[in-house]
Amino acid sequence: MAYWPRYANNQTTFNLQPNHLQPSTKPPSTFNQTTFNLQPNHLQPSSKPPSTFKQTTFNLQPKNLQPNHLQPNYQKTFNQTTKPPSTFRQTTFNLIMTHILHIDASPRGDRSISRQLSNRFIQTWKSFYPDDTVSYRDLGHNPVPHVDEKWIAAAFCPPEKRTPELVEAIKLSDTLVDELLAADRYVFGIPMYNLNVPSTFKAYIDQIVRVNRTFTFDQTGKYHGLVPQGKKMLIFTARGGSFSPGTPSADYDYQEPFLRAIFGVLGITDITFIHAEKLDLGEESRQQSLANARAELEKAVGTW
Ligand SMILES: Cc1cc2nc3c(=O)[nH]c(=O)nc-3n(C[C@H](O)[C@H](O)[C@H](O)COP(=O)(O)O)c2cc1C
Repeated sequence: MAYWPRYANNQTTFNLQPNHLQPSTKPPSTFNQTTFNLQPNHLQPSSKPPSTFKQTTFNLQPKNLQPNHLQPNYQKTFNQTTKPPSTFRQTTFNLIMTHILHIDASPRGDRSISRQLSNRFIQTWKSFYPDDTVSYRDLGHNPVPHVDEKWIAAAFCPPEKRTPELVEAIKLSDTLVDELLAADRYVFGIPMYNLNVPSTFKAYIDQIVRVNRTFTFDQTGKYHGLVPQGKKMLIFTARGGSFSPGTPSADYDYQEPFLRAIFGVLGITDITFIHAEKLDLGEESRQQSLANARAELEKAVGTW
């Protein structure tokens, strides 16, 4: 499988092929000073992993980069007619290094399936994108406390009016919110417990869902997320039963809908789930389900 750089942002130069520019790319007036947003499909399958793109220069032939080249039919025309000409100018692209917040919520260790999957994903991801950074939080083994009376008083008190005691009461919550906001992407491993998330993960959610920090609401009661747009979340769940559409328990999945709803309130709506189901429904189902989840995981490394 081929992997490719995803973004642009830190003074890295690329060899850009014409078909790297999507139809939606805004036609610039001059390509000398132009920054493109590189999406995964901008780089061809034969492209090498991002670290090897450093120090590579990208040359644009201005006359070939007219607005009509950015239309859907542009790719073919350009490919047929273009050779690297002497008039190429050098353009620098910026590579954004992604920061991932990785969280596990199972109290189990190595036997935890959700933990195995999230770790496997991060390891594979890092092998392809070694410049990406990862913060790790193990809620299963180091749970965060439930909110208490002082926490609530602090959270709903304007920051400038908080006493030192209230500041202290909400310190961990502030740290967790900062951590959440600092990440570009999220990879979570979450078991299903009693149709939903384990209480450890719920305690975490209670800490990060903070009015005026991660969400707000208007007079109509409508929520407005304060997490900047464009973040992505990948959630590995592990479940003893099966909750796929058409199965007897399909209506009992309160985990995925809850996670979509609560992170949606914060403004995180690009959420992908990989469910390892049927883990307690016999060895054959378990192995098949694990194989499916691992296959989805491998695919996600190339497409997420
Ligand atoms: C307290 C508890 C509650 C559970 N509740 C459910 C449930 O409601 N539905 C389900 O399909 N599996 C349930 N399971 C099974 C777990 O989802 C399954 O064992 C999963 O593999 C746990 O995740 P882990 O392997 O990452 O620890 C429960 C397990 C425990 C320990």
